[in-house]
Amino acid sequence: MTIRKNPAAPRKILVTSALPYANGSIHLGHLVEYIQTDIWVRFQKMRGNECHYVCADDTHGTPIMLRAEKEGITPEQLIARVWQEHYDDFAAFHVAFDNYGSTNSNETKEFAQGIYRKLKAENLIEVRSIEQYYDPVKSMFLPDRFIKGECPKCHAKDQYGDNCEACGAAYVPTELINPYSAVSGAKPELRNSDHYFFKLSADTCQQFLREWTRSGSLQAEAANKMQEWLGAEGENKLSDWDISRDAPYFGFEIPDAPGKYFYVWLDAPVGYMGSFKQLCAKSGIAFDDYWKPGSDAELYHFIGKDILYFHALFWPAMLQHAGFRTPTKLFAHGFLTVNGEKMSKSRGTFITARSYVEHIKNTEYLRYYYAAKLNGTMEDLDLNLEDFVAKVNSDLIGKYINIASRCAGFITNKFEGKVVLPQRMFNYGSESQGVESDSLQASFASKASEIAALYESRDFAKALREIMALTDQANQYIDEMKPWVLAKQEGQEERLQTVCSSGLNLFRILTLYLKPVLPELAKKIESFLNIPPLQWSDAQTLLQNHTINTYQHLATRLDPKLIEAMVAANQESLKPMTESHSETRHAEHQQKAIAPIAETIGIDDFMKVDLRVARIVNAEHVEGAEKLLKLTLDIGEAQPRTVFAGIKSAYDPEKLKGRMTVMVANLAPRKMKFGLSEGMVLAASGEAPGLFILSPDEGAQPGMRIK
Ligand code: 2FM
Ligand code: ZN
Repeated sequence: MTIRKNPAAPRKILVTSALPYANGSIHLGHLVEYIQTDIWVRFQKMRGNECHYVCADDTHGTPIMLRAEKEGITPEQLIARVWQEHYDDFAAFHVAFDNYGSTNSNETKEFAQGIYRKLKAENLIEVRSIEQYYDPVKSMFLPDRFIKGECPKCHAKDQYGDNCEACGAAYVPTELINPYSAVSGAKPELRNSDHYFFKLSADTCQQFLREWTRSGSLQAEAANKMQEWLGAEGENKLSDWDISRDAPYFGFEIPDAPGKYFYVWLDAPVGYMGSFKQLCAKSGIAFDDYWKPGSDAELYHFIGKDILYFHALFWPAMLQHAGFRTPTKLFAHGFLTVNGEKMSKSRGTFITARSYVEHIKNTEYLRYYYAAKLNGTMEDLDLNLEDFVAKVNSDLIGKYINIASRCAGFITNKFEGKVVLPQRMFNYGSESQGVESDSLQASFASKASEIAALYESRDFAKALREIMALTDQANQYIDEMKPWVLAKQEGQEERLQTVCSSGLNLFRILTLYLKPVLPELAKKIESFLNIPPLQWSDAQTLLQNHTINTYQHLATRLDPKLIEAMVAANQESLKPMTESHSETRHAEHQQKAIAPIAETIGIDDFMKVDLRVARIVNAEHVEGAEKLLKLTLDIGEAQPRTVFAGIKSAYDPEKLKGRMTVMVANLAPRKMKFGLSEGMVLAASGEAPGLFILSPDEGAQPGMRIK
C-alpha cells in the first residue's frame, strides 16, 4: 500500500480496461466494461485529478495468425484493420482513451522482453519439455481450441479439445476420440517440445500473492476466489505458467530462444505499460512516476470476472519480480445478459457496437442504462430492452431534459436570455424563504460529496438514483411555481425570471452530476448555458446575471421500434445483411481466398460416398437449437429420413418444404441432443457470408444416385 505524500494535491491515477482481442467486433457485452471505466475516468478528471486512461488491441496468438492466413492478408494488415474498427466503435460510445495502442508495438515488445529477462535473472523461468498435439500438414502445434474430435463422455462428434458443447464435459485434448486438426483436418500427432514456464509455484511468488491478496487490492468476492486458488497457508496450490508457444506464431520472440514466442497472455497486460509509454512520449508524463515500486500514483485495472485469474495471479507476480509496482486495485465486473439471458444470435440479442449505432444512434442512452445498473460488484448486469426504453424516456427525457425545456423559453423570449437570481440566494440556506428555490439550490449543491463518493466507489446505480431524486425535486418546484401561469400574469415578470433562472441553475447542477455518464449531452448543455466545461467544484457556484444561448432541442425519446428493428436485424437468419455487415465490407476489400483443396483421392474413395437426390418433405425449427433445422427427407425409401442440418441461419424452414436437394445417404446415423440424425445434406459455404444448399436440375427424382 502506498501513502500519498500530499493528500491535498491532485491524485495521480492510471486506469486501464482489458485489451480487446483483435479478431472480433466490439459488442454490447464488451461495452459494459469500457463504459464503466470511462465514466469513472471522466469523474476523476472532473474532480481535478491527474487521471490517464489507456487501452490497446490485444493482437497476438494463433487465432489471429490463422484468420489472417484465411483472408489472404498478413496478421499486421488484419490487426490494423480491426484496430481502426475498434477505435471507431469506442469513439462512437464516447469512450475517451488518452491512448489507444496495440500490443504489437515496440514499447510492449521491450517491456515484455525486459520483464522476461528480469524473471529469468531471478531464477523464475524454467524450460521443460511437454507433449502436445501437432498438425503434420500445417507443421504447427495445435492450441486446444484447434483440435476437434469425439467427446469422450457423450460421444458427440466435432467437439473442441477442451470441452464438449453437447454435454459440457471438460477434458484434455488427448482424451478426444478420433482427434483431428480443425486447421487442416489432419490427424494430429503427439510431439515433444521445450516450453518456457514462469515459476508461479516458487515460494517467493506464493508468499507475495498471499500478502497482495490481503493488501485490499481486490474486491471481497475476488479476494475469496484468490484464497481458493492459493489454498491454505503452507499449501502449494499454484502451478507454473506456460508462457511460450512454438513457431509459427504471431507474437514476440523470446530473447535467446529462437523459434519460441511469448504466449499472448504474457504480453497482453504488458500492453497496458506499452500503451502508457506511448502516452508518456506524446504528453511528457514521466513513466517511472507511475510504474516504479513505491510510486504514489494509483493503478487500477477494470476487467471482467473471467480474466481475474490472469490479473490477480500472473500479472502482479510478474510485476513484483520484475521490479515494477503492482496494481492498487482490480475492479472486476460481471457479464452482460440481455432480457435475462445470455446474448444470443438466434434471439437477435448478440448486438455489436456498430449495429447499435446504426439503429439507435444515441449511444449515451446505453451509457445511462448501464450506469443505472452498475454497482461496483461482480454481479451480472441485465439489459432488459423494454426497461431500457422506459428508463431512458422517463428519466432522461421526461424528467431531466424536461427541466430545461420548461424554463429556457421564458428566459430567452422574455428576458433576453438573462439568468438573474435574487441576492439572498447567495447565502445558501440561511435565508430560505417559503417555496422559493434557495433551499433547493443549497440542498442540490450539498449533495456533491455524497454523489462523488458513489462515483468513486463505482456505485453508479446509487449515484443515479440520488440524481434522479433531485430531478424529481426540481420538477416539483417548477410544478408548484407554474411559470406558464406567471407568464400570463401582470406584474409577475421578476418572479417568472427568478423561477426560470432557478430552474436552469438546478438543471446546471444536475448536468454536472450526470456529466461523467452523458458527456456529449453535457457538452451541448454547456454550450446552451454558455458556460465553460463543468468541473466538480462548480456544484458550489450559481449562474447569476448570465446570458444563455437560445435553447436547442437536446434529445429525442427512444422509439421502441428502433429496438425491435435492431433485434430483428441481428437475428441470425438475417445475418448476411446485418451482423456480418462489417465482414461483408471487409470481404469486398480483401483478396479472394479459398480454403485449401483437400488431399487427392481415388474414384473408389469417392464411390464410398452414397449421394442421393432428396425431397424436403418437412422442415422445422428445433426447440433450443441455435443452428439446426430438423429436415424430413424423402429419398425413395419406405420411411423418410430425419436429418438435423446446421442451416438455420440461412433458411426459413417454410421455404424449404417441397424443395429438392442432395444428401449423403450412407453416413453413419449420429445421435444428437435433439434426436437421431440419419444422414447429411450438402451445403456450400466460404469466406463470404452465407450458406447454400444444393439443388439438382429439374427432372431429378428422390432417390436418384449422384455419381
Ligand atoms: O479476454 C480478453 O479479451 C483479453 N484480450 C483481455 C486482455 S486484458 C489484458 F491483460 F491485456
Ligand atoms: Zn460430450
